[in-house]
Amino acid sequence: MSSPTPTLEMRGVGVTYRKGLIGRQVAAVAVTRVDLSIARGETLGLVGESGSGKTTLARVALGLVEPTHGSLLFEGQSFDPKVRREGALAVVFQHPEWALNPRLKCGTSVVEPLVVRGMRDRRDRNDLVQKMLAEVGLDGALADRFPGELSGGQRQRMAIARALITQPRFVVFDEAVSALDVSVQSQILNLIRRLQGEYGFAAMFISHDLAATRYVSHRIAVMRNGAFVEVASARKFYDQPEHPYSQALYATIAGETGSAV
Ligand SMILES: Nc1ncnc2c1ncn2[C@@H]1O[C@H](COP(=O)(O)OP(=O)(O)O)[C@@H](O)[C@H]1O
Ligand SMILES: [Mg+2]
Repeated sequence: MSSPTPTLEMRGVGVTYRKGLIGRQVAAVAVTRVDLSIARGETLGLVGESGSGKTTLARVALGLVEPTHGSLLFEGQSFDPKVRREGALAVVFQHPEWALNPRLKCGTSVVEPLVVRGMRDRRDRNDLVQKMLAEVGLDGALADRFPGELSGGQRQRMAIARALITQPRFVVFDEAVSALDVSVQSQILNLIRRLQGEYGFAAMFISHDLAATRYVSHRIAVMRNGAFVEVASARKFYDQPEHPYSQALYATIAGETGSAV
């Protein structure tokens, strides 16, 4: 029996950015020859230091950056931008402020993805907003507050509600807990884990923090200089990371006390 089609696949993906003025361009290789697949209901963790290519890879996965070579498949088909227009893809960033307009009540920002996709009935929309706020552990009354009136953790919950309101089938969390206090981080990690189990979307969880990544991921890819140096199950990773670079990352958390998770 063949295994089910992965939600997302990359084959030999590479990205080269061109910087500088025409005629004096410098090519910067951000990603080289990455192969990956993420199944429905699976979270792939991406760890690596700043500049290793994690965000670039996420942007390819979301169809926002065209790979210089290689291919991207979504649910077995060559990537079609219509999946993005339909709301099948979502992203949660490090700074929830990017997803929440400071001049609008939070509920307006949460509902916006439905408005732009033509959902007309105001009552249905508001019902969905209330449902999503409950899902992310927020009091429904916060829909009428402005982002500036919320704590950092509440804002990130709000951004997650906005990301999930179209019921995406693939979600990227790009350093989504990195700016939060340690105690709030673990709450948001628990929330991500619960929502992923409940909704069953495929996910890419990006962090420079291996402990956080291990907590929410089924498999972990370690990135360095635009390539994967190791891909293994989170459990395997816990026991014995193989690559020396992974071991070094691991050693930095093994020595930590009072870890977030
Ligand atoms: N828009 C861009 N134009 C040119 N170079 C970029 C751009 N975005 C990222 N880079 C470069 O690509 C490399 C990978 O960056 P990035 O994917 O943001 O890594 P990470 O998310 O792991 O920090 C870095 O060297 C970065 O400077
Ligand atoms: Mg990044």
